[in-house]
Amino acid sequence: MERTFIILKPDALESKNAGNILARIEAEGFRVLGLKLIQMSADDAGRFYAVHKERPFYGDLCKYMSSGPVIVAALEAAGAVQKWRDLIGATDPAQAAPNTIRKLYAKSKEANAVHGSDSVENAKIEIAFFFSERELVG
Ligand code: CMP
Repeated sequence: MERTFIILKPDALESKNAGNILARIEAEGFRVLGLKLIQMSADDAGRFYAVHKERPFYGDLCKYMSSGPVIVAALEAAGAVQKWRDLIGATDPAQAAPNTIRKLYAKSKEANAVHGSDSVENAKIEIAFFFSERELVG
C-alpha cells in the first residue's frame, strides 16, 4: 500500500474548510496514518520547501506557510500519491478541474488549500520531516 503526505494550508483552516477536506479524504477511501495540527516556523517552511529555493515565490511561500496553523497528515491508499494529486487538482485553482479540492476551496496559487507529495520518494521524505514512526498507526 502506498503513502502520501498532505498539508491543509493556512487558508483552508482560516476559511473553516478543514472539516470538509477531512470528510472528503474519508469519503475517497484514504486511510489516515497520522494527523496533527501545527504551526510551522519560517525556518521549518524554508527547509520543507528547500527544493523551491531558487523560485521567485520561495520567500513569500515560506512566510505564508508559517502564517497560521496547518494540518499535516500521512495518508495511505492504493496509488495514494497520484490519487491525492487527482483529487486536489491543478496548483492554480483557476486551472483546477471541477469538484477538485482546489477548485472548491483554494483562493490563489499560493493560498491553494492543500499540498500533496509529487512522488513516492518525496512522500517518504515529507512524512519523515513531520512524523516519527511512533506517531503513525500500523
Ligand atoms: P505545493 O503543492 O504546496 O508545493 C509548492 C507550492 O508553491 C505550491 O503548492 C504553491 O502553493 C506554490 N506555488 C507554486 N507556483 C507558484 C506561483 N507561481 N506563485 C506562488 N506560489 C506558487
